[in-house]
Amino acid sequence: MKILIINGPNLNLLGRREPDIYGSRTFEDFFGELKVAFPGVDLEYFQSNHEGALIDKLHEAGFSARGIVLNAGAYTHTSIALADAIGAITAPVVEVHISNVHRREAFRQHSYLSAKCVGSIVGLGLEGYRLAITYFITHYNTRF
Ligand code: DQA
Repeated sequence: MKILIINGPNLNLLGRREPDIYGSRTFEDFFGELKVAFPGVDLEYFQSNHEGALIDKLHEAGFSARGIVLNAGAYTHTSIALADAIGAITAPVVEVHISNVHRREAFRQHSYLSAKCVGSIVGLGLEGYRLAITYFITHYNTRF
């Protein structure tokens, strides 16, 4: 059972980037914890600061992964191309945002991606990724 986590731009700086908003933990550290928590899951992590690389990864994994957890960072609010990529693949995608985007600037309150995703988890910190994985295990265990 393969579940892919994709993080978009600037999320490679988690732990150092605006810790009051995004926390002080690196994603690599958290990912290690996820692998221990879900030993039966083939968990993969991919991060890129480049829109095209994120699209390429969605294409590559999007017809075989059991589910994709996507935090597209700021591309969430700008990228019709990423929305089209989510629409083009068969794997279900859960959108995650660490911060509560609805409590922040107005431009963060619109997502081009939400309508293409099975659901969204926002504002629960890194816990959102864990919840998304649990959702895929519970709801998509026998689908493929
Ligand atoms: C974010 C929210 C986005 O608005 C922002 O551009 C990010 C991180 C989040 O996880 O809260 O890079 O996706």
